[in-house]
Amino acid sequence: MDTKKRKASPEVAPVLDRRTPADALVIFGVTGDLVHKMIFPALYAMVRRGALSVPVVGVAGSQLSLPQLRKRARDSIRQAGKIDDRAAFDRLLSLLQYVGGDYNDPETFKALKQALGTARRPAHYLAIPPALFPKVIEGLGSSGLSEQARVIIEKPFGRDLASARALNRIARSAFEEDSIFRIDHYLGKEAIMNILYFRFANSFLEPIWNRNYVASIQITLAEDFGVKGRGRFYESAGCLRDVIQNHMFQVTALLAMEPPAYQGYGAVQSEKAKVFRAMRPLQPEDLVRGQYVGYRKEPGVASGSDVETFCALRLFIDSWRWQGVPWYLRSGKCLATSAAEVLVELKPPPQRLFDDSAPVDGHANYLRFRLSPNAEVAIAARVKRAGKEFVGDQRELYLLNEQSNKETPYERLLGDAMAGNGALFTREDAIEAAWAVVEPVLKTHYPAHPYKPGTWGPKQADTLIVGDGSWHNPRRAGATSA
Ligand code: BG6
Repeated sequence: MDTKKRKASPEVAPVLDRRTPADALVIFGVTGDLVHKMIFPALYAMVRRGALSVPVVGVAGSQLSLPQLRKRARDSIRQAGKIDDRAAFDRLLSLLQYVGGDYNDPETFKALKQALGTARRPAHYLAIPPALFPKVIEGLGSSGLSEQARVIIEKPFGRDLASARALNRIARSAFEEDSIFRIDHYLGKEAIMNILYFRFANSFLEPIWNRNYVASIQITLAEDFGVKGRGRFYESAGCLRDVIQNHMFQVTALLAMEPPAYQGYGAVQSEKAKVFRAMRPLQPEDLVRGQYVGYRKEPGVASGSDVETFCALRLFIDSWRWQGVPWYLRSGKCLATSAAEVLVELKPPPQRLFDDSAPVDGHANYLRFRLSPNAEVAIAARVKRAGKEFVGDQRELYLLNEQSNKETPYERLLGDAMAGNGALFTREDAIEAAWAVVEPVLKTHYPAHPYKPGTWGPKQADTLIVGDGSWHNPRRAGATSA
């Protein structure tokens, strides 16, 4: 039978193919901070690259005129850089529309439907506080606006296992899992995508990437600034919820996962979910919490707050590959520098043939991935110093060292979600499994230790790692490596 000539049967209901591009972008919370800081500049860059040409409908509670929304867009893009492509900027403004209204009111969704006109496959981006997610998803569902559509959900996705499950249920009541895009902007970072590539595009790594050769893995995400006016939000989150359960766990999963069995994002998602399932649930002893001095004076912060602005933890992944290898994760605000790095420390040679063989100086060979502010991949090995003595130094061989970032994470992620590509998003089972790991310590933990801004956090964090050397402090941006 000549299948090429067969026409599609008219009875077949049009289904949203995974890869059918969205024909409109709806932004709930268009007047909010996130959109102002990140999203308008990302949209501008997308238009400039020719990656966005569909209507962009902003939705928010306030009654704003379209010129007012355009002015906000202009201010936001100017703040992020300069408007260097007038034609692209004008194109973006011409794509914008605005719908104002209460998310509880069905009329808001009717007005949105009208604004969408002939668009049939919108991507709805929820850049709104999590408390509003259920209302908006319900509104989309009951107005028919979820049919053929996608939904992009901002973090935080839940605040514990129960709320993440509830949110997944609500999202699934209106959308298929394939149409739900849970954002973790870390996954859109070039240096983090490179972890996946570097691991599975090379074969030399695999023989050593396991408990036989790896002694420990450290991941540090340090910021040299405080909560920057987000005290109220931070009081409800803390460091563990804000960056560890999501951003740092995602990095951990990319480092720890098994090779995906086939090319396609489902395989990557499944392997990552398995890592979270293999993580040993944290206990209070696995954690050192800290709070920078001055945090309690931040607007919106309780005077007796015990919320952590620093968290260091020791984690185990009970899998064949990682049995017994400690993973040390650490993050904090007001630390000595802003940088994120992974250090994969290898075991020292089995025999100490030279006086300076590791672990004498505490440093065996390692691989280092710098994730921000620039991308680096380096392998460190010892080489002999010229001279009579058999002593040497550990030198880093750079495989990558660059500053450039072609696309910001939001450009990449919004573009991917609109194109139906879920590779860089998180799946419901993975999110729930990650929450299950931190669940035991969300409420049961030791008090936070105070630390001075500009340091590497409370010294108690050293006790966590003491059996495996010391914390690796990423160098300051611009400083040259050792
Ligand atoms: C956000 C957190 O998700 O990630 C912030 O809410 C944190 O507290 C930020 O500062 C870090 O992301 P980036 O891209 O600036 O490293």
